[in-house]
Amino acid sequence: MTEEPALRLRSALEARGLPWPAPIEHYPIVGSTNDRLKERARSGAPEWTVVVADKQTAGRGRRGRRWASPPGNLYLSVLLRPSSPAASVLPLAAGVAIAEALAPLGVVAALKWPNDVLVGARKLAGVLAEASSSASGLEWMVMGIGVNLDPRGMPDELRATATSLEAEIGHPGSREELAAAVLARLTVWYHALIGTGPASLLDAWRSRSVGWWGKPVEARSGDQVMRGVARDVDERGALLLDLEDGSRRAILSGEVQEVRLLPAEARTCS
Ligand code: BTN
Repeated sequence: MTEEPALRLRSALEARGLPWPAPIEHYPIVGSTNDRLKERARSGAPEWTVVVADKQTAGRGRRGRRWASPPGNLYLSVLLRPSSPAASVLPLAAGVAIAEALAPLGVVAALKWPNDVLVGARKLAGVLAEASSSASGLEWMVMGIGVNLDPRGMPDELRATATSLEAEIGHPGSREELAAAVLARLTVWYHALIGTGPASLLDAWRSRSVGWWGKPVEARSGDQVMRGVARDVDERGALLLDLEDGSRRAILSGEVQEVRLLPAEARTCS
């Protein structure tokens, strides 16, 4: 563990009027910041504990995918211990927080359900939320956030589908400033969610979402393929699809690998 980047992040938070209430751990190299923070969560770390790393050797994406994690990008995980039933919407809050943190840098990001952060059609950031529950409810949620800042270490196979802050605005920005901005916005949405429920967060998410509403999409879950018209997200953050047989289906993020817009020639529903 090294002190200096953690202190810089703490100072950046303080400069935003947000003295951070919990430990911030920085590692030059770690398997996965989510895995390290899950260990901390299991041994009772306080809410808002943060783990950041320069590089991950076993970075993970949604649905068991690998998250390429060369040096130069943001890899951050934050621990939440929400008692509210609205907690299932928190992963959407992370996407909104990232998009809001990027906006002052001139990046217009769009959110693809459940929480991919896109610029145009390319992915700039992703969120991996992992939670543990017991009989008495949710014990903790680790929110893992990865933002591509520097294109240099990006694997060749991702270049067609991913982007970076440097590719978008000409420089990679300050990792600690971006981390502080994301955490500050996440804090705001977290308190809004716990205090008044998911309505305002869902409106913020909808206002930044890709324009799929009313269009046919395909959702894959294992071997199953569901086709329908994307209608909305519900109060749990589930995607609402009107299926071809006329029924409405609410899809939770853990159920599907990928949702994609169908090309015009494959559209059979209206
Ligand atoms: C996705 O879009 O599939 C989610 C990607 C999440 C990547 C971040 S990087 C920090 C944290 N640690 C991980 O191993 N994954 C998340």
